[in-house]
Amino acid sequence: MCGIVGYIGNKQAQPILLGCLEKLEYRGYDSCGVAIAGKDIEVYKDAIRVKMLGEVSPKLNGTTGIGHTRWATHGVPSQINAHPHLDCSGNIAVVHNGVINNCQELKARLIREGHTFTSETDTEVIPHLIEKYYHGNLEEATAAALDDIDGSYAIIVLAKDRAELVVARKDSPLILGLGDRENYIASDVPAILDHTDRVVYLEDGDLAVITRNEIKIKQNGSDVRRDEQKVSWNVEEAQKAGYEHFMLKEIHEQPKVIRNTLAEYTRATEHPVDLLGARDTGTDSMLLLACGTSYHAAMIGKYIIRELLKIPPRIEIASEFNYYSDVLSRAVAIAITQSGETADTLKAMKKLKEAGCRVLAVTNVVGSTASRIANETIYTRAGPEMSVAATKSFTAQLMALYWLGITQSRIDARKLASLLTELRQLPGKVQQILDDEAIIAKQARNLSRFENVFFIGRGINYPVALEGALKLKEISYIHAEGYASGELKHGPFALLGESSPVIAIVSKDNTHDAMLTNIKEVKARRSPVIALAEEGDEAIEEVADAVISLPRVESLFSPVVNTVALQLLAYYTAKERGCPIDFPRNLAKSVTVE
Ligand code: AGP
Repeated sequence: MCGIVGYIGNKQAQPILLGCLEKLEYRGYDSCGVAIAGKDIEVYKDAIRVKMLGEVSPKLNGTTGIGHTRWATHGVPSQINAHPHLDCSGNIAVVHNGVINNCQELKARLIREGHTFTSETDTEVIPHLIEKYYHGNLEEATAAALDDIDGSYAIIVLAKDRAELVVARKDSPLILGLGDRENYIASDVPAILDHTDRVVYLEDGDLAVITRNEIKIKQNGSDVRRDEQKVSWNVEEAQKAGYEHFMLKEIHEQPKVIRNTLAEYTRATEHPVDLLGARDTGTDSMLLLACGTSYHAAMIGKYIIRELLKIPPRIEIASEFNYYSDVLSRAVAIAITQSGETADTLKAMKKLKEAGCRVLAVTNVVGSTASRIANETIYTRAGPEMSVAATKSFTAQLMALYWLGITQSRIDARKLASLLTELRQLPGKVQQILDDEAIIAKQARNLSRFENVFFIGRGINYPVALEGALKLKEISYIHAEGYASGELKHGPFALLGESSPVIAIVSKDNTHDAMLTNIKEVKARRSPVIALAEEGDEAIEEVADAVISLPRVESLFSPVVNTVALQLLAYYTAKERGCPIDFPRNLAKSVTVE
């Protein structure tokens, strides 16, 4: 997590850095700071948001600088722990995203050698190490310092009297933005979209020297070339476009996202991965793994693949998978990650690849680390997702999974044609839900009074219950739990009552009758029930306290309409409670630490 930026050019660096940092706050925002090289290196930092830093900081003159927005790992959010960090002389400043595993050992050694530290962070060892090795060549000193470091990093180094920035990455993202007699550095593309659409994606192990006119990249001491790429995302996509929050905008973008994703996949002539190979090698040959919301997409993927390819794939939470040693012989592994930078998912992907598995990444970010590790990548076309809460990227992941399943299924042709027709009707059905969002907002006003909420679903909608609960707790701070409906009576029933509402996700499939029974059981324990059900489902209307009626869809696609409704429910509940929806406390969008 954390976002880092750098600028070297002919304009004043401070406003540029602050503008770029605001776009990276989704990566963490507990404190922030900038360092500008003028006559000396001037640093201004504090435990405040970037906008506020811009308002209270003095004008720092200089056309070269670095900036940071933090998600704390080592040390509380405070002015002292905020980046940039300096060496003893104040001549070298560093911003860092990542974790230095051996920082205690390095710190102890540096203290013995006479260095003094001011913060509790792991990062502070970096400028001190560079200072130790600096004899007039910043690039060499940085390379020597990094040799001592065990951990993950994306860093930008600024030194007094040097018309250059030195940058390096290992297991944390870093991109270069190319301008006219100016260059930018950032953790992610949206930070620099206001200035340029020409980017270079650095690779793990790259160390680069950036001047205003030139970039020189080395890997293991030798010069390397990294191609310039043109970014297809535009500035508008990374802005709120009149919506109060990015999250609401991104929820509303979903019909377009479904359309774009399907159009792109339809145009593609080749299947990105041969899942049929996995079927032919048996049931033990396919693994889906991910974290958080992407894991919920993987869970739904399991149902899709079972239904359409008749393979029962194994699914794993990436962070747990990393402790197993018995699942490395799979033929195909599908890693789902919106950002393409989630540390646990990347670690699992590397482990699988080393073991000889074929790894497919499903990611939204071109050039992300996941896409570099994977043998093949399916890009979701959600556009930049700025809100910490994943919404449109989840729907796009589902589209990728549906497409994989449908294009490779061997179900009969008539059924297949009908699924394709339904899939193409999905944008319109999602739009219907968005058009009726006032109905959901009304239910949210009611829900916002409670402190504990259960979400229940069965079959393909069990993961949707988990996702609904995650979304609600993430942005409204209401304690929410998702359960497979049948499990509720095996413990959670003890908590049912008037103050514990239950959101029931009902689909008109073979789970319908059991869901109806579950709702009755819940009602008998006095919990208020809000049901999501297909329009005209009178049986549910009779038992639930409130029904959010949703357009009829094929059961396989019901997770899409149900999730969109739950996203709106979470959004309006959080809004009612006055929560900072796009930047929920303690969370960051890109979880680049284990
Ligand atoms: C979802 O709203 C969360 N922000 C979080 O669970 C997220 O899905 C998770 O961190 C995984 O991220 P990824 O898709 O970028 O790997």
